[in-house]
Amino acid sequence: MNFAGLAKKSVLQQPVYEPGKPIEDVARELGLDPAEIIKVASNENPHGASPKALIAARAALDQAQLYPDGGCYRLRQALAKHWQLKPDQFVLGNGSNEVIELLGHVFLEPGDEVVMGAPAFVVYKLVTLLFGATPVEVPLVKYGHDLAAMRRAITPRTKLVFVATPNNPTGVTNSEAELCAFVRALPGHVVCVVDEAYAEFLAQPPDIRPLIAEGRAVIGLRTFSKIYGLAALRVGYGYGDAELIGLLERVRQPFNVNAIAQAAATAALADGEFAKRCREANAAGLEQLYAGCRSRALTYVPSAANFVLIHVGDGAAVFNGLQARGVIVRPLRGYGMPEWVRVTVGTESQNRRLLEALDDVLAARSR
Ligand SMILES: Cc1ncc(COP(=O)(O)O)c(C=O)c1O
Repeated sequence: MNFAGLAKKSVLQQPVYEPGKPIEDVARELGLDPAEIIKVASNENPHGASPKALIAARAALDQAQLYPDGGCYRLRQALAKHWQLKPDQFVLGNGSNEVIELLGHVFLEPGDEVVMGAPAFVVYKLVTLLFGATPVEVPLVKYGHDLAAMRRAITPRTKLVFVATPNNPTGVTNSEAELCAFVRALPGHVVCVVDEAYAEFLAQPPDIRPLIAEGRAVIGLRTFSKIYGLAALRVGYGYGDAELIGLLERVRQPFNVNAIAQAAATAALADGEFAKRCREANAAGLEQLYAGCRSRALTYVPSAANFVLIHVGDGAAVFNGLQARGVIVRPLRGYGMPEWVRVTVGTESQNRRLLEALDDVLAARSR
């Protein structure tokens, strides 16, 4: 049977997302003990999740036989209180990745254009292609979004523009003033998506609520996968004007966020103390990695997020060398940065282990 012959042509052309390798896979492939491996490849939280979120998740398991609340009532109320917005200004997703896909369902048709930074989070491009639209990639300047060039890239066919702040994979952020000026200058047929997956790592992230209050075409994306440490549960959200959110609500599946995730996210949001501790630990971890890079004369990009780009020469070789030593980082060839690796900030001992393994790999390569 020729199933590929039956599929839409666009599906056959669709590039596939390459996730960071799970610890178990690396252990199997290299014959290593999983307990000995550290994964600093996917910008997860090395401190786990809020204990309160885990208690709530475990309690929710007792109701596993019931469908979840499709409207995410409690989480929505908690978000409304947290943000001082209305409950109908939030759309919950199976990770913020799902909200990106919902944006595609609502706005994108073949022939449409989507403006994004290059490199930026690859899912923007994948979703654009999935809907037959055209990605218009605008090179970064100084590792951050070139908002002036992105504005110039907008045409009558542009439907969406993605600004990740801080950006992944570079960790560089745009200021609130720059971002607000950019959104206010957009033509009326373009929706700006401000991806704030790492915003909680900033003491004072840009606040787009004034733009929402002005009725601008903007949506913020947040996730519980990063500072809240709930990546396995898959929960994120978009927030913006109630009419825009209503369109996204029309195209989502009825039970897209499971009950365990809803309970855990609601409790995590209430545990501001945990998020604060993680933010402080991340800042200290970044300093540790920067100092490690400086003492080894390695160039790095100062980051506002929970990861850092390090210039290593041959990124693929260093990735392989580190992996063989039980340290999983992210090579960036797919992001057009083959000389760099992206390293998630780990615990103090994980950061030390990464730096020591890097010494080993670089020494072996120079022999
Ligand atoms: C910039 C950015 N946006 C969105 C996401 C997706 O997060 P999730 O789907 O886990 O909420 C990620 C994940 O790495 C990211 O880096």
